[in-house]
Amino acid sequence: MSVKDYANAGTARMAARLAMRGPGTVNLELSVNGTAQLVSVEPRVSLLDLLREQLDLTGTTKGCDHGTCGACTVWVDGRRVLSCLTLAITCEDRGITTTESLAKGAAVHPMQQAFITHDAFQCGYCTPGQIMSAVALPDEGHASNDAEIREWMRGNICRCAVYPNIRAAIRQVRDAAGAHHNAAVKPLEPNAGFDLGQRLRPAPVTRLPRATVAPRRRCRTARRPRRLRRSARRTAASCRTEPGIERSRTTTSGNT
Ligand code: FES
Ligand code: FES
Repeated sequence: MSVKDYANAGTARMAARLAMRGPGTVNLELSVNGTAQLVSVEPRVSLLDLLREQLDLTGTTKGCDHGTCGACTVWVDGRRVLSCLTLAITCEDRGITTTESLAKGAAVHPMQQAFITHDAFQCGYCTPGQIMSAVALPDEGHASNDAEIREWMRGNICRCAVYPNIRAAIRQVRDAAGAHHNAAVKPLEPNAGFDLGQRLRPAPVTRLPRATVAPRRRCRTARRPRRLRRSARRTAASCRTEPGIERSRTTTSGNT
């Protein structure tokens, strides 16, 4: 059988498989957290919706549903993916790991414990996605220093901005594991360089010397040409002396 024949056979197999799918619901077999699951979904359903709405695994949170926040991070075959951008149908015969699998009974995962120790969350909405990424980071070999951690955690947004605490938690787990830590690379100081808290800190207030204080702006009337100022004064004076005008103006302004 030639390569071309194999290719044709592959195409035919693929075509046959696709022909069996949709547009109605399709049956899929997935492995979720080590357990085989048989589900019925439409081909348009995302992995995130499948996990949350059919399998009741609500630990994976839905933030933007557009692939920008990272709150929905899970692993597919050990690789981080955004489950809101992954169709459930593409995960057939693959191993899906969610945040629910990290703790073993009452014993939390070391990364979860580190997040608690370093207070690495406030509202906690982004935390499941942050932890799924954080656990994967040392195994990917991307936790050598703060710059690297920052770069490879970039897809996980935290609106509460606890980034320094998240980095501290990752450092702790990385150092405890002793794996993938490149001692030749000097870690950045915590909060060094770019840091949201640092950027938002207001500049110290200094009082200007009296001589350099700008003169107060003159009122608008004073800036009018002398001719207009005179005419405005005349109008005001005539309004004061003619009660009818004053009354009609008051009435008009009262209605508006
Ligand atoms: S919910 Fe998936 S990236 Fe925001
Ligand atoms: S802890 Fe609130 S969004 Fe991250």
